[in-house]
Amino acid sequence: MDLRGVFYRNGPNPQFVSDERYHLFDGDGMVHAFAFTDRGVGYRNKWVRTEKFGLERAAGRSLFGGMRNRWKDPSVADRSGNVANTNVIRHGGRLLALWEAGFPIELDPQTLETRGPWDFHGRLDRAMTAHPKIDPLTGELLFFSNVFGAARELVFFRADKAGNLVETRKIPVPYPSMMHDFAVTENHVVFPVFPLTLDMERASKGLSPIAWEPGLGTRFGIMPRHGRGEVVWLRTDACFAFHFMNAFEKDGSIMLDAMVGDRIPDDAKPFQEGKDDFPTRLVRWTLDPESRTVNKEILDGTGGEMPRMDERFCGQEYRHGFFVAQSHGTRTDGLWDAIVHIDFRTKGRRVFVLPGDDVLNEACFVPKSGGGEGEGYLLTLAYRGESGTSDLLILDSLRIDKGPIAEVRIPHRIPVGFHGCWVGKED
Ligand SMILES: [Fe+2]
Repeated sequence: MDLRGVFYRNGPNPQFVSDERYHLFDGDGMVHAFAFTDRGVGYRNKWVRTEKFGLERAAGRSLFGGMRNRWKDPSVADRSGNVANTNVIRHGGRLLALWEAGFPIELDPQTLETRGPWDFHGRLDRAMTAHPKIDPLTGELLFFSNVFGAARELVFFRADKAGNLVETRKIPVPYPSMMHDFAVTENHVVFPVFPLTLDMERASKGLSPIAWEPGLGTRFGIMPRHGRGEVVWLRTDACFAFHFMNAFEKDGSIMLDAMVGDRIPDDAKPFQEGKDDFPTRLVRWTLDPESRTVNKEILDGTGGEMPRMDERFCGQEYRHGFFVAQSHGTRTDGLWDAIVHIDFRTKGRRVFVLPGDDVLNEACFVPKSGGGEGEGYLLTLAYRGESGTSDLLILDSLRIDKGPIAEVRIPHRIPVGFHGCWVGKED
């Protein structure tokens, strides 16, 4: 096997839990690293030592509330609740743990020790999305800041290949919303505004600041990457997506692929788990900025999440997509036990299903050296219900239905997590 490099994965692992209203999104970030060398696979994990982590460790208890519990100890009233638990990326020679309402936190790529918040040499003045995009053609890092509050604008940033922040643009938005991810193509950036709205005035009345307001519809803002052209906003039906698989340009339109749900499960508690009544499916939107129309096509009927692809084709027309899913609706716990591979050219699909009560995480694509698009491996963590431990599974990306080609046994549990990345040996 020609896998040489490190697979990093981030996820929540709370040092202290505030109370029974703890939500998965609130847990302290822990980064797990699997190093593939000539001698085998080495494993290391460390908490991201955020300011919050340090304050709570010193106090010996929880000081910050969370999404469902907005209480904060007065001693930390002006401190950041950054948990750095959502994603981990490598760019400009830095390894960064990301959380969308705070600064990136730089880690040592070998030891995983925390170096501290990274503000791009003082040029980043606000939070950064956990889903930036690396343009494979230019090496640039594109990202946004969606200020958590009542602001009717977001900010777009571009860092060059070396990690210097070289562009900042303020973008007025139709209404303040939760924006977890976005999409880029060769010449455009697409900002999704879904009617999961933010209003801090609601919070001051003791209500959740987040609400589902389908009457507002969904808006897509299309921004030219080059030059200073205006953002064109298109409107379509209310829906919600956490994650985009990819986007690309074709015949003057933008093709936008995402895992999309028609609604949010419970208006009052928009982030409750239990995905049975909230299936998100792989959808392709065709955005035509000329006619200002949005067309929607369901590419696969399986409920799934965590879409990934061969990122060497990010922003370009592509053939292979992957996501995790629940097999045949037999599970009732909302957790994933399957991976689906879609071949957009042949419309073929392959599925891998874990046995029993085992649980899968996001599957990260790793290219085979010298291989074409989609040729390589999928890396994912599997939690084994029976033993209470986790295994790292390695699948042939184009033959996932054959099952793992190798497994790395971890003697303990790795909690269900969010996103990760592969850093090849050459990097
Ligand atoms: Fe995410």
